[in-house]
Amino acid sequence: MSLDQVHVDLGARSYDVLIGAGLMGEAGALIAPLLARPRVAVLTETRVAALHLERLRAALRAEGIEMAALELAPGEATKSWEGLQRSVEWLLDQQIERGDLVIALGGGVIGDLAGFACAVLRRGVRFVQVPTSLLAQVDSSVGGKTGINTRHGKNLVGAFHQPSLVLADIDTLATLPPRDFLAGYGEVVKYGLLGDAAFFDWLEAHGPALGAGDAGLRQHAVRASVAMKAAIVARDETEQGERALLNLGHTFCHALEAATGYSDRLLHGEGVAIGCALAFELSARMGLCAQEVPGRVRAHLRAMGMAADLGDIPGDLPGRDALIALMGQDKKVQAGRLRFILARDIGKAFICDTVPPATLAALLDDALAAPKAARP
Ligand code: GLY
Repeated sequence: MSLDQVHVDLGARSYDVLIGAGLMGEAGALIAPLLARPRVAVLTETRVAALHLERLRAALRAEGIEMAALELAPGEATKSWEGLQRSVEWLLDQQIERGDLVIALGGGVIGDLAGFACAVLRRGVRFVQVPTSLLAQVDSSVGGKTGINTRHGKNLVGAFHQPSLVLADIDTLATLPPRDFLAGYGEVVKYGLLGDAAFFDWLEAHGPALGAGDAGLRQHAVRASVAMKAAIVARDETEQGERALLNLGHTFCHALEAATGYSDRLLHGEGVAIGCALAFELSARMGLCAQEVPGRVRAHLRAMGMAADLGDIPGDLPGRDALIALMGQDKKVQAGRLRFILARDIGKAFICDTVPPATLAALLDDALAAPKAARP
C-alpha cells in the first residue's frame, strides 16, 4: 500500500503527517533524524501498549534508539491534573532534556496529555504523535491542540504545541473495538459535513466497506480528513476564526459528554456525530439549510450503525435548561454568548452566534422527547 504525506505548513513549526500501513515498523528510521541522542521516552496507556509497544520498541531498537515507556491507565480520566503531574514527573525522572523527543503512542487522550506535558516540560520539548485510534489519526494528533480536562469541563486547560511528526499507521485501526472505530468515524463525517460535500458523497458510497475493514478506503478517508485539517490549521493555527469550523457538532457534544459524566455512556466521537446531526437540525429550523439535509446526515450515521439522536444515549439525560447551561462552558462562548457551527448545506459550515434561544430550546425539547424505542 502506498504512503501518503500531508504537510502542515506552519513556518518554523511545520511538520509532516505520514499515513500508511505498517508505519510503526518504520518508526525508528523516520524518527532517528529528529534525535539529538539515540534515546526517546514514550507516553502510552496499558491497552495500546499491549497491542503496539513492542513493535515500536523493535523499530526503534533497529536504529539503535533506546526507549523508556510510561503506561498510564486507559480512558478519559487519565487526561487530568493527576495524569499530567505523573507524566511530567516521570519525564523528569527519565532526565528528558530540552533537545530530546517524546513519543505519544495512543489515542486522543494520550496525544492530548502527552502534548501538554511536552508543552510545559522545560518550557517545551518536541514530541511525535503516533496515533492508534481513528479519532486521533484524523483529528486530535494534527494541529497542536493539547490539554487536560478539569472539573469545569473538557480541554479547558492546555496549550497549542505542534508535534514534530505524526505517524498514522493504518494497521492499528484493525485492532480497534468496533465501537471505538465508529466513534472516530464521527470525526471523519464531520470533515465532509463542514467543508467537502464531495467527500461526504464518497463516505455515503464507501463508508460501509470502510467500516467493514477495507484498509485502502480507510487510508483514503484518513488522508482526506488530515489534508482538510492541515489546510485549515495552516490558515488559522490558534483558532482566531476559521479553525472553529472543526468544532462542528462540538457545542452539543461537550454538553452531552458532561451530562453523561465523560463515561462510556457516550464516547467523544459518538457525541460529535449526534452533535453534527443536531447542528444540521438547528440549521434547518433556522431556515439556513433545506429541510431534508438533516435527514440525509442522520441516514448516513444510521447506515454506519452509529448513534444519531439523543435517544441513542443510554440512561437519562438532564433537561433542556441543564444542557444549555453545560453548553455555556464551551470554549467558543464569547461574552457569555453561545457560538454554534451551523451549515447552509452539506460541506458549507459557518460560525453563528445568533441562534435564537427559543429555537435552541425547542430543538432540545423535541430531541429529548423522542421515544427511547428509537434506540438501536
Ligand atoms: N479538534 C478541533 C481542532 O483541532 O481544532
